[in-house]
Amino acid sequence: MSQRQTLVILDFGSQYSQLIARRVRELAVYCELLPYDAPLETIETLNPIGFILSGGPASVYETGAPKLPRYLLETDKPVLGICYGLHLLIHALGGQVEASAKREYGLANFSVTATDNPLFTHLDNTDLNVWMSHGDRVVSLPEGFQTIGTSPNTAFAAVADLERRRFGLQFHPEVVHTPQGRDILRAFLYDICGSDGGWTTGHIITETVAAIQGQVGDGQVVCGLSGGVDSSVVAALLHRAIGDQLTCIFVNTGLLRLGEAEQVVETFRNQRHARLIAVDAVETFLSALAGVTDPEAKRKLIGEKFIRIFEAEANNLGRIDFLAQGTLYPDVIESAGTGKVAAKIKTHHNVGGLPEDMQFELVEPLRMMFKDEVRAIGEALGLPPEIVWRHPFPGPGLAVRILGEVTWERLETLRQADAIFMEELWAADWYHKTSQAFAVLLPVRSVGVMGDGRTYGYVVALRAVTTEDFMTADWAQLPPALLGKVSNRIVNEVADITRVVYDISSKPPATIEWE
Ligand code: XMP
Repeated sequence: MSQRQTLVILDFGSQYSQLIARRVRELAVYCELLPYDAPLETIETLNPIGFILSGGPASVYETGAPKLPRYLLETDKPVLGICYGLHLLIHALGGQVEASAKREYGLANFSVTATDNPLFTHLDNTDLNVWMSHGDRVVSLPEGFQTIGTSPNTAFAAVADLERRRFGLQFHPEVVHTPQGRDILRAFLYDICGSDGGWTTGHIITETVAAIQGQVGDGQVVCGLSGGVDSSVVAALLHRAIGDQLTCIFVNTGLLRLGEAEQVVETFRNQRHARLIAVDAVETFLSALAGVTDPEAKRKLIGEKFIRIFEAEANNLGRIDFLAQGTLYPDVIESAGTGKVAAKIKTHHNVGGLPEDMQFELVEPLRMMFKDEVRAIGEALGLPPEIVWRHPFPGPGLAVRILGEVTWERLETLRQADAIFMEELWAADWYHKTSQAFAVLLPVRSVGVMGDGRTYGYVVALRAVTTEDFMTADWAQLPPALLGKVSNRIVNEVADITRVVYDISSKPPATIEWE
């Protein structure tokens, strides 16, 4: 373990806990998000420069409510409590928190009353908009604490015990609705915890490359490349770290988007000179899918075929010691039990992943990283923007975006329609503003006119969503002119399509994919 500075965030169950961690990382400070009851040994190993206590849905008076770990009462490291984190600190140190029947939820005006407090060093005014979301509130402070900011609903919107370096905020500095929250977090991290801001992309790459070299030694590594950002960044990092000890396997299922398969080969084999096995399995997948219309049957079949092909290729390589995977930090957090429902809902989506029973040791260089960090690394390593910024793509690929039977003709039709949509989204600068966007081919024929005659062609649905976590999503409010242009181009350029519709359903109740 290197001597990097770590801030520890204790998760008391807030929906914003991961967001706090992302904000801290954006400020170039390494942090780990741990369950509030993480064992003391884990904390001691990390030797944190300070602590942030997240909010949470509980009330300090509830039986079974998460408690403040004892070591936090004794630590000489700075502590910042947010919302429930603040209530816990105040309650544990002898102040009073009042359960309130009425929740305060939404924007509030916050006034700084102690302008010389180090938490406010980076603010350029004393009146801020902040985001409140709480039931309980503080009514009296423990000894040593003072109020440093107020809001119309509370005289204790921000409090501090400067001597013991304990701070508390009733509002949420991590959300975008608190525009200067970032400046407050920056002050806590840099001016109070003394961070050196070492968690930069350059540093992350150097550290990760060294860690890979340390783990792998002179072993052989195999890496499944899908064309998505995570596996591409894993491959690029490993290639930098161990060169030809890495072999990438790319399986072309025929279910990818236009130009994707070619781009993987171009980027990794031709430009980066990585060892790449590109398997053309298009026929295998198409013949297996013939006549299959049930979405779950498609998923199962594609997942199984994929694993078998990957395994066979890996076995052909001879000695392989490690399997590289693009596991990200949110997956690690969820499987550690910090996030609750998310992990459960996602399991059925792991189709197209790699065999669970493969007897390799895992190399997971992105294990502690958020998606933003992965993209920054990808950019710094020179991967093309289409890969770095690529939206997530389901393992079963276009097979679940062709409703009904998957045939080569339908795949080609959908690929063309989808490519037009993507091209126009990029051109209008809307690709980055959506989290996922794609075309779906519907198995219905609808009437159209062409010249003097009536035609019956297929319908393409366009789907574009914005989301933070893919568990809930809003349909993207794309400009009508952009939708019009995409529709026009699709009906003119793609044979057999006479109608284009835009999906305006949110998740829930709809899902993001159509199948
Ligand atoms: P839904 O459609 O459930 O999708 O709202 C949520 C996210 O999961 C992706 N997705 C999948 N990913 N295999 C995958 O690897 C699948 O079978 C699968 N189905 C959906 C979807 O694209 C979205 O990002």
